[in-house]
Amino acid sequence: MGLYRRLVLLALLLTAVVVVFGAYVRLADAGLGCPDWPGCYGQLSPAHAADDIRAAHAADPHGPVSLPKAWKEMVHRYLAATLGLVIIAIAVLAWRRRAEPGSAPGVAMVLVGVVIFQGLLGKWTVTLLLKPAIVTAHLLGGLTTLALLSWLALRAYAAPRRQANLAAGASAPLRLAAAAGFVLLVGQIALGGWTSTNYAALACTDFPACHGSYWPEADYANAFHVVRELGMTADGELLSLAALTAIHWTHRLGALVAGGFLLVLGAALMRRPGSRDAGIALLAALAVQVGLGIANVLLSLPLPLAVAHNAGAALLVGVMVWVNFTLACTRSLPFKGRVGVGMGSNQHTDHPIPLPTSPLKGEEQTAALAALSSNPQEA
Ligand code: HEM
Repeated sequence: MGLYRRLVLLALLLTAVVVVFGAYVRLADAGLGCPDWPGCYGQLSPAHAADDIRAAHAADPHGPVSLPKAWKEMVHRYLAATLGLVIIAIAVLAWRRRAEPGSAPGVAMVLVGVVIFQGLLGKWTVTLLLKPAIVTAHLLGGLTTLALLSWLALRAYAAPRRQANLAAGASAPLRLAAAAGFVLLVGQIALGGWTSTNYAALACTDFPACHGSYWPEADYANAFHVVRELGMTADGELLSLAALTAIHWTHRLGALVAGGFLLVLGAALMRRPGSRDAGIALLAALAVQVGLGIANVLLSLPLPLAVAHNAGAALLVGVMVWVNFTLACTRSLPFKGRVGVGMGSNQHTDHPIPLPTSPLKGEEQTAALAALSSNPQEA
C-alpha cells in the first residue's frame, strides 16, 4: 500500500494546485494565452511557438495572447497532464490491490473517467472561447476530482483509525444533514463559478446590499440561460447589468442559505466527540471563505483574493468530504449504540475487533482507541 498511498497523497496535493492555478490563469485573463489545444500554436511549449505568439501580440497588444499568458496557460496544462498520469497509475494500483483494505478501485476508476472528461472540458474552454457553461463545468470537474481524491486518501490513510468513530455513534439525521450540506456546497460553488465565469464579480460593489437595495433590479431569465456566449444573451445581445446583478446577487443569497446550513452543521458536529475536529475545521473554513467573498466585493476583486476565494472553496470541499467520511464510517459499524457496547467486528478492516462488553469511559476509552489506531493488526 505504500506506493499507492503516496501516489494518492501526491495526486491530492497536485489537484489542489491545478484547481487553484487554473483559477489564477482564468482570473489573470490568460485562459486563451494559447488559442489551440493541446499544444500552443501546435508546439510543445510557448518557447517553441514564440514567433507565432509575438506576431499575435503585435497584431493585438491588448488581446488574449502574449508570451507570459501563454506560459501560464501551458503550465496549467502540464500540471493537469501530470495529474492525469498519476491518477491512471492510482487506478491501476487500486485495481491490482483491490483485495487490500483501504483501496477503493471503483472510486479510482470513476476518477479516471472524470479526469478524461476534465481534459475535454479544458479543450472546449479554449476552443469554444470561454463559454461560461463550459468554464463553470471545468471548475466543478476540478473540484469533483479533488473530492474523489480526498475520499481515496481518507480510505487509504484513515482506515485503521476509523475505530475512533466508535465514540461518535452518529445519528441518521446528522448523516443526512452532512450529505445535504455537501449538496448545498456544490450548488453554492456552481453559483460562484457562474459569477466568476460571467465576470459578474463587480456587478454589485456595495455590501451587504447591492446597488443600495436588498431587492436590486435584476434580469434572472438571461442571467441563468445556460448555453450562450460569454457576455451575450442567448439572442446574441450584450448581457445587461441587470443580468450580471442577478448572477452576483444569487451567489450572495446562496451564501446565506448554504453558509447558514453549514454553520449549523459545523456547530452540531463540534458538540460530538467523534466529529469535533471536523466541525471546527468546517466552521473555520466557512468563516475564511465568507470573509474572502466579502473582501472581494469591498476591495474590487484583487487577484490574490479572488484566487484565495477559489482555494477556500476547494478547502471547503475537502472538509465536507472528511465530514461525510467520518459520519459514513459510523453507519456501517455492525452494532448499535455508543462505544464499547457489545461484541462485534469492524467491516472496514480485515481484522475482527473484539470489543469490550461494557461501555468504556474517559481514559479507558482513550487508551483503547489509541491502541486500535496505533496497532490495528493486533486489534
Ligand atoms: C459558502 C460560501 C461561499 C462559497 C462556497 C463560494 C464559492 C465561490 C466560488 C467557487 C467562486 C468561483 C471562484 C473562481 O474559481 O473564480 C466564487 C466566486 C465569487 N464569490 Fe463566492 N462563495 C461563497 C461566499 C461568498 C460571499 C459571502 C460573497 C460576497 C458577499 C462571495 C462573492 C463572490 C464573488 C464576488 C465571486 C466572483 C469572484 C471572481 O470573479 O473570481 N462569495 N465563490
